Amino acid sequence: MEKLVSLCKRRGFMFQSSEIYGGLNGFWDYGPLGVELKRNIKDAWWHDMCQGHNELVQPQGAPSPYEMVGLDCTILMHPQVWKCSGHYDLFHDFMVDCRLSKKRYRFDQVRGKWVSRGEQKVFVTVVADPENENDEVTRRALKFFNLRSKNADELTLADSFQSLDKLTAEERTFVLAPDANEINTLTDPREFNLMFKTYVGALSGEEGAAFLRPETAQGIFVNFKNVLDSTRVRVPFGVAQVGKSFRNEITPRNFTFRSREFEQMEIEFFCHPEQSPEWYAYWRNRRLKWYTELGLSGDRLRMREHDQDELSHYSCGTADIEYAFPFLPEGEYGELEGIAHRGDFDLRSHSEGKLDPRERPLKLELNEHGQPKHRGSGKDLSYRDDLTNERYIPHVIEPSAGADRATLAFLCEAYHEDQAPDEDGKMQSRVVMKLHPRIAPYKAAVFPLVKKDGMPEIAKDIYGALKKKFNVFYDEKAAVGRRYRRQDEVGTPYCITVDSQSLQDQTVTIRDRDTLEQWRVKVDDVVAEIEGRVS
Ligand code: GAP
Repeated sequence: MEKLVSLCKRRGFMFQSSEIYGGLNGFWDYGPLGVELKRNIKDAWWHDMCQGHNELVQPQGAPSPYEMVGLDCTILMHPQVWKCSGHYDLFHDFMVDCRLSKKRYRFDQVRGKWVSRGEQKVFVTVVADPENENDEVTRRALKFFNLRSKNADELTLADSFQSLDKLTAEERTFVLAPDANEINTLTDPREFNLMFKTYVGALSGEEGAAFLRPETAQGIFVNFKNVLDSTRVRVPFGVAQVGKSFRNEITPRNFTFRSREFEQMEIEFFCHPEQSPEWYAYWRNRRLKWYTELGLSGDRLRMREHDQDELSHYSCGTADIEYAFPFLPEGEYGELEGIAHRGDFDLRSHSEGKLDPRERPLKLELNEHGQPKHRGSGKDLSYRDDLTNERYIPHVIEPSAGADRATLAFLCEAYHEDQAPDEDGKMQSRVVMKLHPRIAPYKAAVFPLVKKDGMPEIAKDIYGALKKKFNVFYDEKAAVGRRYRRQDEVGTPYCITVDSQSLQDQTVTIRDRDTLEQWRVKVDDVVAEIEGRVS
């Protein structure tokens, strides 16, 4: 992971936000190569899920053909949106503060081990790199008990780690917090809403309060009626949106994995309630396949069904697509995308008012006139099937992906170290990013072998022709082996070299980044050859 992070900075994939001022924790900028990579991922998603979807054909595994349309909604929305979505009341993490170090931690993310010495016991927490967690526990415990390393056998360490939220209140009085040197310095867990608050217009009081959206999904729900009225879509159909979301994460970490500003790629798929289990199954498989088609390998990628107690406040069933990110302990996976069966929670809630999805049938609160209180929009968000005349509130299946997590997973998967011959045929080690050609920042690089004899002119013409279609790189500096290596390191799938033979027969060599195979192609055929290979 360290090597990847350093490559990302060195070659311009990602930078810490506001780095010259010391950075801002949880915020990341995409550099010249990162922006291309992430855009290609978002474009691939948009194309495969929305724009390129053929509504006339029934996709494999789908219960029927379906339509897809897109939306691009605002980041700030009416505050009532977040009241009805449940985010205002329920979107929080539990956190604990350390009275000694003044640091704040997420309650479920502090891990530790019980350590005892004779009758005395202490729960030693760590924030170290997971590989050294055990050593770190021992080091802290020795310090706590005022022992030298040679007396480590006086300590008994529990077999497994536990997270803080699994301890009782009484047990928490024995916790040695991650940055403390005495026990019992942590406060009780408190709720911390993750939405960023701001103020709209000149009003500085609560009347002007608004929230930066914590998910793009709600923009789709509140536009459900607009989409129905302005297009001819019929259920089943999906609405796709890509955009920024913001969450004031308590402990942003693991590079871009948990950021405070990130991008989501979400689909809200509206279907008949009776067909929703089949659509749920379809989207789970469809989304998993999308990642494998773009190069994430089967053994680091998995689908995990949520347990009942893990479900979000709205969900009647969720599966996560997870990836074994290299910064996680061996055998652990991190969420790439959630596919949630949201039932009719959102449409109903925006129509009628906040409700608990587990509280069915819907219990409306009554006002003083004995009528239902409309805390939602009060608008009818049901759907009438014009063929059957049936009126119902569609159920929703939501594949919700993170563009930044997908980018990070593709980067992790792509990183390889191997050997390749240099210009003298000697094997040299190289770093190669084996990115799928569809998402690679540059599709090709063009080199004149030497900077003379008309080679640069031919190379520049090829570059110009390719540039009309793709992002391509031109390089005439340094030995050609070095130029290959620089392109391998940023994942450029093909390098095109103009050499002395090109002057004789108007052919160039194309080199494949992964197989290192080289073959000759007519100059006039280069664009078609690259186009065929990267699309
Ligand atoms: N609308 C449902 C929803 O937002 P989520 O599981 O909270 O569900 C969906 O988020 C996806 O958004 C996650 O699977 C992840 O890829 C991405 N995501 C969520 N929080 C993130 C964060 N703090 N940093 C980066 N990506 C995040």
